[in-house]
Amino acid sequence: MSAYVPASDRYDTMIYNRCGKSGIRLPAISLGLWHNFGSIDNFENGRAIVRRAFDKGITHFDLANNYGPVPGSAEENFGAILRKDFTGNLRDELIISTKAGYHMWPGPYGDWGSRKYVLSSLDQSLRRMKLDYVDIFYSHRPDPETPIEETMGALDTAVRQGKALYVGLSNYTAEQTKAALAVLKSLGTPCLIHQPKYSMFERWVEGGLLDVLEANGVGCIPFSPLAQGLLTDRYLKGIPEGSRASKPSGFLKADHITDEKLDKIQRLNAIALQRGQTLAQMALAWLLKDKRVTTVLIGASSVEQLDNNLGALHKVQFDAAELKEIESILQ
Ligand SMILES: NC(=O)c1ccc[n+]([C@@H]2O[C@H](COP(=O)([O-])OP(=O)(O)OC[C@H]3O[C@@H](n4cnc5c(N)ncnc54)[C@H](OP(=O)(O)O)[C@@H]3O)[C@@H](O)[C@H]2O)c1
Repeated sequence: MSAYVPASDRYDTMIYNRCGKSGIRLPAISLGLWHNFGSIDNFENGRAIVRRAFDKGITHFDLANNYGPVPGSAEENFGAILRKDFTGNLRDELIISTKAGYHMWPGPYGDWGSRKYVLSSLDQSLRRMKLDYVDIFYSHRPDPETPIEETMGALDTAVRQGKALYVGLSNYTAEQTKAALAVLKSLGTPCLIHQPKYSMFERWVEGGLLDVLEANGVGCIPFSPLAQGLLTDRYLKGIPEGSRASKPSGFLKADHITDEKLDKIQRLNAIALQRGQTLAQMALAWLLKDKRVTTVLIGASSVEQLDNNLGALHKVQFDAAELKEIESILQ
C-alpha cells in the first residue's frame, strides 16, 4: 500500500458533537475494531478502512483488550496501522479507546474488575498498540463481586498515571452507572462517556440510562448500532458468504435471523428507501436524532460499507409520520 497522506478536507463534512459536558467533541460516527481487524482478518483491508475513516473525519477508533480473534490482535494490528500511516503529530488528531472487563488471561487476575486486572490489562493494551496512553479507558462491564470503588479507583489511577486521558463505562445498567459516576466524581475523575448496546432492535437504554447520562453530563456512544449488520441490506436475500452471520466466530448466529426479524427488516428497509436512504443509514440517523447520543460506534468489513454508513449524515431528521411508522414496526 502506498504512503498515506490524510485528505486535506477531512474535517469539512463530519459533524462533531460535544461528549456530555466535557471539552471533547466526537465525530457523529466512530469506528470500532471488534471484528475485521484481528489476526484472522486481512490486514490491508482493515488498514484501508482506518485510512478511509480518518479521511472522512472519523477521529475516534474504539478497541478493547480482547478484540481479535485472537484476543489482543486487533490492538496489535491497530498499533501497526498507526506506526505505518499515522506518523508525526497525527496521534494528536485521534481519540483512541480501549477497555478491560472480559476474559483475557488465565487465572484469577485476567478477568472482570479488580484493580490488579484492570491496570495490568491497560499496560498490556499499551504494549500491544505501542502507545504511551489511550484517550479513553473503559471498564468493559460491571463486576458483581468487586466493590465499585475498587474498579473505579483503578480507572482513576490510570488517568493519574498518565496512561489514559478520560475514563468510560460500558454495559453498566442505569443504577450501576449512577453508583459508578458518584465514585468517579468523588475521586476527581469524571466519567466522559458510556458505551451501551443500542439500536432500533435493542432499546434498553431508553428505560433510564440515557436520562442518567444526560443528568450527569456524560456522553453516550451506542455500540452495534446496526445490530451487527441486521439493520442493513446484508441479510435481505439470505446469509451471504463472508458475512458475520456466516462465520463460526462471533455472536451473530444464522438462527438470530428469524422470519419475524426479516419481516421487520424488510418493512424498515421500505421506509428507508422512501426517505432516500439505505437501511443502514436510516438506522444510524434514528439513533443520532436523540441529542443525548454523542456518536454511533459502527463496525465495517469494507470501505464500501463505511462509505455507505457515512451517508447517514446527509439526512438525520425524521418527520412525525416516519417515526410513528418505524415505532409500529419495532413494537
Ligand atoms: N462495549 C461492548 O461491550 C461492545 C460490544 C460489541 C461491540 N462494541 C464496539 O462497537 C463496535 C461496533 O459493533 P458492531 O461491529 O457490532 O457494529 P454494527 O455497526 O452494528 O455492525 C457492523 C457489521 O454490520 C455490517 N455492516 C456495516 N455497515 C454495513 C452496510 N452499510 N451495509 C451492509 N452491512 C453493513 C458488517 O457486517 P459483515 O461483517 O457481515 O460485513 C459489519 O461488520 C465494535 O467494533 C466495538 O468497538 C462494544
